[in-house]
Amino acid sequence: MPSTRAIEVLATAADLFHAAAEEFVGVARAAIGAQGRFTVALSGGSTPKALYSLLATNYADFVWNRIFLFFGDERHVPPTDPESNYRMVNESLLTKITIPAENVFRVPAENPDASAAASDYEAQLRRFFEIKSGEFPRFDLILLGLGPDGHTASLFPDSPALTEESRLVVANWVAKFNAHRITFTFPVLNRAAEVMFLASGADKADMVRQVLEGKSTPPLPSQRVQPSDGKLLWMLDEAAAAKLTR
Ligand code: 6PG
Repeated sequence: MPSTRAIEVLATAADLFHAAAEEFVGVARAAIGAQGRFTVALSGGSTPKALYSLLATNYADFVWNRIFLFFGDERHVPPTDPESNYRMVNESLLTKITIPAENVFRVPAENPDASAAASDYEAQLRRFFEIKSGEFPRFDLILLGLGPDGHTASLFPDSPALTEESRLVVANWVAKFNAHRITFTFPVLNRAAEVMFLASGADKADMVRQVLEGKSTPPLPSQRVQPSDGKLLWMLDEAAAAKLTR
């Protein structure tokens, strides 16, 4: 599949999340039709919460038993912590749908040893995708957000994980948080069949323009997400796209 980049701009945030839900379900249907299952890595932060809630309300009776949910990154906190991406997804989606518990792959971020948590999660991915060392999983869809500094997942500028080329999941020390984050690496992101960035609101407009039209040296982490054999889709609302030269 040749690599493509598409930018979709929706008028409002509500329109954006509806379109994102349709894209999610559309990719899921195609993957289930072709392979009998859909593998997706969810993003954290605040932006996707509205998407997860919409999937729960509008697609509650979807074939969730054919869907396998992973997390592209996680904060180094227990699943009950307010900072936990798992907790956000659990409250906005998982508790409102019927999905087999074994279809949800949570990062074991309660482990005080962040590196051990990352290794554990990598082992889960290798088991699920039946891949050996040196091989990489191909997700049907990876959801990503855009941070104010151009980070995505938990791949922050000037952080150690940016140079990782063989691991699938690492514990990334983020100096500004004085904490580790557990995150997928670029090799995993760039082997996905589709990567969907979701950005909403005026406070994202400068960074959206910088990432999509700007030149940064070194490139911003979000600029390094270029699926080698897949689709890159940026879904934006008008406010987030306001500074793009279209
Ligand atoms: C996280 C995310 C992170 C997020 C961006 C945007 O764990 O925080 O994975 O990469 O997508 O920081 O966050 P907002 O959606 O809250 O702006």
